[in-house]
Amino acid sequence: MITMATKSNTDKVDEIRKEADRLNSEARTADQLMEGVTLLLNNQMLKYNWVGFYMLEPRADPPMLVLGHYRGAMTPHTRIPLNQGICGAAASSGKTVVVDDVKKDSRYLACSLETKSEIVVPVFVDGKVAGELDIDSHFLAAFADEDRELIEYCAQLVGKRLERA
Ligand code: SME
Repeated sequence: MITMATKSNTDKVDEIRKEADRLNSEARTADQLMEGVTLLLNNQMLKYNWVGFYMLEPRADPPMLVLGHYRGAMTPHTRIPLNQGICGAAASSGKTVVVDDVKKDSRYLACSLETKSEIVVPVFVDGKVAGELDIDSHFLAAFADEDRELIEYCAQLVGKRLERA
């Protein structure tokens, strides 16, 4: 009998956290780090089907989230005001938002018919929300606590990097 060694999600999350550290030490700019993080998470985490950063537009009034680096299908939502979407909710509250079933959340702005769950994690720079890391999944309830910790860790790396920029 052939037995296949399958990694638990916990092992995979640990591995990807180390990969994110490696990217952080190799990236020359915050922008390169953001690009690397979107690639890493989209390529390596099977349920992370769309991964992107939205950053607050400098000096915009009213405040506006603008799509930055992303991996996955094209989205119609390239600019999102803070009073719209799961993205607006995370940025305006400064809290991670996890939605297990987007169909049941009236705030949800649809990007793709395939999306079933979503997580949005704020990126803080000097204690203030500067943007966010948004991930969509084709699976219901794709984001467990360990996923949330991994994604928050990646968002923190980017925030610290932007503080130094
Ligand atoms: N679903 C998000 C919009 C961005 S797309 O997921 C890429 C929202 O509800 O804010």
